[in-house]
Amino acid sequence: MIAIYPGSFDPVTNGHIDIIKRCASTFDYVIVAVLINQNKNVMFSAEERIKMIQKSFIGYDNVKVESFDGLLVEYARSKNAQIIIRGLRAISDYEYEMQMSLFNYQLAPEIETLFLVARGPFSYLSSSIVKEVASYGGDISSFVPSHVENNIIKNIQKRRV
Ligand code: COA
Repeated sequence: MIAIYPGSFDPVTNGHIDIIKRCASTFDYVIVAVLINQNKNVMFSAEERIKMIQKSFIGYDNVKVESFDGLLVEYARSKNAQIIIRGLRAISDYEYEMQMSLFNYQLAPEIETLFLVARGPFSYLSSSIVKEVASYGGDISSFVPSHVENNIIKNIQKRRV
């Protein structure tokens, strides 16, 4: 079975990585789908975001990272994916996720959305909070892999010049 895990991943965090690893051990194939066009003001280009995820999954033969644009369900159909994976961190995620999953169901009833509950330490994590903490010089080493930490710090320093 092919599962798609979509998101902005700006950048990938240990919370996302935990979800992807759990998918990789559950499904035959996992496609991590990085959204290109979005309203969000991103720190990293789609290519940079993809590379950071790929670097976190070296040796995982059933994890592929791609970018996508347009409707998620159309992209999922084009990949023959039967499952969309979303992580649920707190109750506050629920309403938005429910709306998205119901809309996706209306658009593509053959594709199921499955939710994985974020594990304890990741339930309060988001890409924005990691970037914010780093911008004030805080230690983000337990929230992101070291290559991601380095890229965030470099990006913040570049913006300050
Ligand atoms: N661990 C850590 N952080 C997590 C997480 C986890 N397990 N799960 C979610 N997050 C965080 C992300 O870091 C992100 O943080 P940020 O806002 O600070 O950047 C936030 O939760 C939400 O992010 P994300 O999962 O990237 O969702 P999104 O809302 O940016 O994008 C898409 C969701 C891509 C699935 C959706 O916009 C989409 O499908 N777009 C395509 C167009 C489409 O089909 N629209 C119709 C949908 S009905």
